[in-house]
Amino acid sequence: MTVPLMTRMLAADAAGVAEAVRCLAAGGLVAFPTETVYGLGADATNGQAVARLYEAKGRPTFNPLISHVVDLAAAQALARFDADALLLAQRFWPGPLTLVLPKARGCPVADLATAGLDTIAVRVPDHATARDILAAFGKPLAAPSANRSGHVSPTTAAHVLADLGGRVDVIVDGGATAVGLESTIVACLDETALLRPGGLPRESVERTLGRPLARRDAGTCSAADPPLAPGMLTSHYAPRTLLRLEACRVEPGEALLAFGPTRVKGAERAARILNLSQRGDLIEAAANLFAHLRALDAAATTAIAVMPVPHDGLGEAINDRLRRAAAPR
Ligand code: TXA
Ligand code: MG
Repeated sequence: MTVPLMTRMLAADAAGVAEAVRCLAAGGLVAFPTETVYGLGADATNGQAVARLYEAKGRPTFNPLISHVVDLAAAQALARFDADALLLAQRFWPGPLTLVLPKARGCPVADLATAGLDTIAVRVPDHATARDILAAFGKPLAAPSANRSGHVSPTTAAHVLADLGGRVDVIVDGGATAVGLESTIVACLDETALLRPGGLPRESVERTLGRPLARRDAGTCSAADPPLAPGMLTSHYAPRTLLRLEACRVEPGEALLAFGPTRVKGAERAARILNLSQRGDLIEAAANLFAHLRALDAAATTAIAVMPVPHDGLGEAINDRLRRAAAPR
C-alpha cells in the first residue's frame, strides 16, 4: 500500500531543479510544469519508479505514458521517425505535440511505461523548467498529467498539491501553465492519425503535412478525462499463449507466472517459472509484469499459469492487465 510521503514544494530555480533531479535519480516522483499541464515525472527507464507513479495516480489500469525528452536527438534514441514524424517534430518541437511511434531498437524505456506496447509516445515540452530538468537529468521522463486518475489535469502547483499531496516527493512550482490543455497526440504508424485533440490545433498539423489527418474514433470520453488515445482501448499488449488466471497448480506444458512464495502443485514440471515478486511486493510486481509475460510467452507450450495476485493498490491494475491478456481473441 502507499506509504504517505512528505511532499516538498520547490521553487523553479536552479536549486529546485537540482533537487528535483536528485529525487528522480533516486527513483522518486516529481511533479513539474510543462507548457500544457503539470506532469508527474518518473525516470522512464526505471520500472519500479514508473510503478510508483501509477500507484500515486491511483490508475486502475496501466495506460501507456508519454516519454518526455529534451530534444529530437534524444527522442530518436527512443523511437523510429518516418518522414511525417520528422517533419512534425522539426516544425512543432518543442511544443504541445506528442508523437506515437514504433519503439526504437534498444529503447531504454521500461516496458511498464509503454504498457508493454511496441509503440512509444514521445514529446519535447516547451517550458524552461521542464527543459532544465530534462537536460540535467539526461534520461527520458515518463510523465502523465499530475492528477489523480479521473480528475482534471492540473494547471497550477496548488492543483497538484490538492490532488497528489502526500503521494509524490516533490512539486516544482513554475506558476500557471500557458496552454492549459494536454498535448495533441498524433500517431505516425501505418497511417498518420490524430489520437487526441489538444493544445496544438489539428489544422496546424494538417497544414504542415499538406493533407488531412486520419481520425481514429476516440470513443466516449468524459469531461473529467480527455479521450484516451484510442489505440489503447483495443491494442494492448497480448501474449500469443493462453493465460490461465488464479492458478493453484501447473499443468504439463505450462509456464508459471508466480507471485510470492511458489507454493503451487506441479511447479517442478513448469516449462519455466518467473516470479513477479518473491516477497509479494506489488510495486516490484508491476515493474516486472510485461517483461515476464513476454519471456513466458516464448517458453510455454500450452498456457501460462498465473498465481493469484492481490487486488489492493497496484494489484488492481496488474489484475486488469492479466484479465485483458487472458481474454479470448
Ligand atoms: O500535455 C500532455 O500531454 C501532458 C503533459 C504532462 O506532457 N501529459 C499527458 O499525459 O496528458 P497522460 O498520461 O495524461 O495522457 C497520455 C495519453 C494517454 O491517453 C495514453 O493512452 C496515450 O497518451 N498514449 C501514450 N502512449 C501511447 C501509445 N503508445 N499508443 C497510443 N496512445 C498512447
Ligand atoms: Mg491525463
